[in-house]
Amino acid sequence: MALRSLALGCGSYLPAQVLTNEELSQRLQTSDIWIRKRTGICQRHIAADDEMTSDLGSAAARQALEQAGIDADEVDLIVCATSTPDETFPATATRIQEQIGCTRGAAFDIQAVCSGFVFALSVADNFLRLGQARTALVIGAETFSRILDWEDRGTCVLFGDGAGAVLLRAAENGGTPQDAGVISTHLYSDGRHHDALYVDGGPSSNGQVGHLRMEGKEVFRHAVVRMADAIDAALEKNDLKASDIDWMVPHQANIRIIESMAKRLDLPKERVVVTVDRHANTSAASIPLALCEAVTDGRIKRGDLILMEAMGGGFTWGSALLRW
Ligand code: UT7
Repeated sequence: MALRSLALGCGSYLPAQVLTNEELSQRLQTSDIWIRKRTGICQRHIAADDEMTSDLGSAAARQALEQAGIDADEVDLIVCATSTPDETFPATATRIQEQIGCTRGAAFDIQAVCSGFVFALSVADNFLRLGQARTALVIGAETFSRILDWEDRGTCVLFGDGAGAVLLRAAENGGTPQDAGVISTHLYSDGRHHDALYVDGGPSSNGQVGHLRMEGKEVFRHAVVRMADAIDAALEKNDLKASDIDWMVPHQANIRIIESMAKRLDLPKERVVVTVDRHANTSAASIPLALCEAVTDGRIKRGDLILMEAMGGGFTWGSALLRW
């Protein structure tokens, strides 16, 4: 017997305002065709002026608690992955903790940009498997619209706002890849690639919030190679084959990256959860948003094997295997 982190429920939240490619093409030198063809994105959600990352995260967290049938006061760990915190400090996780009415345990943020959810899942899973917490909310919440340079067509068309959450609870089971729960997580970073994807501001550099800067082609090139390596590591570690995967729930940055990962695994497109067309890239929120969509509409069922993979600024990248 082994302690496993079982996923009891998930939740998501998207701000009401939708910004289409068409609307962007009226403000910028871009077009719906270019954005669709190069990225697969058709629209993105944008947080209202009075909506903060913690509001998005709390809405997703409440839904995850409800789906899991768990009270907020049973939660003893909140890990929030975000690169767009409400404030420099305290952690957005503590704002969420307060908003959902939870007063126990620990709440803190994880910063691994678009890989944030996989990193947060890994941290929470380790807490649960070591017995340091029993019930964890793992949240990815972002308001990237606040750090975009809305005059830079190379970046502002790519991102959106949103949040997703998963409720984990520690339980004993056989601990094999056939048993439910988080099977393994695989995390990597390489700080030499800072300049390819970063925000040109921060409390200790220039005291500004800053804007996202990206060399898209360079990130693309690394993403396909590094995520493929992370997927191989996950399958190898658990003695699984690509054909064992029921669902790929990838980070949603670009449909071309998602399709190349699926092709490599020989996964038919019906087995890949895609939200990039409607959500764009919501950074740490993109995987839990996609996961929640497929769980809620009944595609992902109990017992299904889910592969998640992501790559983001740092660079950071990683993968996770979860049996729902
Ligand atoms: O989540 C974190 C990880 N991030 C990613 O995974 C993003 C990875 N990168 C990408 O998805 C792609 O590289 C982009 C979608 C960002 C860009 O696509 P690309 O095929 O690499 O295009 P490009 O940057 O090479 O640009 C091609 C052309 C350029 O014009 P010239 O120099 O060929 O005349 C750009 O100036 O497209 C131009 N361009 C645009 N045109 C219309 C760039 N952005 C736009 C735009 N609308 N929004």
